[in-house]
Amino acid sequence: MHDRHLITLTVNDEEHEVVVEARRTLLDVLRHDLRLTGAHAGCEHGVCGACTVLVDGAPARACLLFAVQAEGSALHTVESLAAPSGELSDLQQAFSRHHGLQCGFCTPGFLMLAEGWLAERAATGAGEPDREEVREVASANLCRCTGYQTIVDAIADTARTRLAAPGETA
Ligand code: FES
Ligand code: FES
Repeated sequence: MHDRHLITLTVNDEEHEVVVEARRTLLDVLRHDLRLTGAHAGCEHGVCGACTVLVDGAPARACLLFAVQAEGSALHTVESLAAPSGELSDLQQAFSRHHGLQCGFCTPGFLMLAEGWLAERAATGAGEPDREEVREVASANLCRCTGYQTIVDAIADTARTRLAAPGETA
C-alpha cells in the first residue's frame, strides 16, 4: 500500500518539495532527502537530543516528529547558524573557545537547544541567566563525552555577550 504525500518543508528559509511516506520522521527527511546531515541520529527515541532542530523557533526533537507534521512550520537546522561566508555564529565560536565539544556528535543538538533557548529568553527581555538555569537547559540533551561543564560555559558566555551587545549574534 502506498501512503505517500507531497509536502513543502521550509528549512533554513528555503522551501523544499518532498514526497514522503507518512511514517517517515522529520529527522530522516532532513538527513536523507534534503542532505542536511547536521542533525544527528542518536537514540531516535527522543532521549539524547542529538537531532534537535528549531520548529517555529523552539527546540524540538526531529526524531519524534513526522515530516508531514512539520509542513507549514519554519524549520531551522544547525546549518543555519553560520553566515553564508562560513563565519561561525557567536554561539558556535563560544563552543569552540570553551572547548564545548569533544567528539562533536552531540554538538549540533546542543547548539540548536541553546540557540532556541537564548532567542526565547531575549524575546522576553530576561536578564543574564544564572548558571543553574543554563545547567537545567543543557540537561535536556546527552553528551556521551560528558563535556557538560564546558557546554554550560559556552552557553552562559553567549548569553552574557548577547546581553552586552544586543543584535550582534555573529
Ligand atoms: S535522536 Fe532524537 S532524541 Fe536522540
Ligand atoms: S562531545 Fe562527544 S557526545 Fe558530546
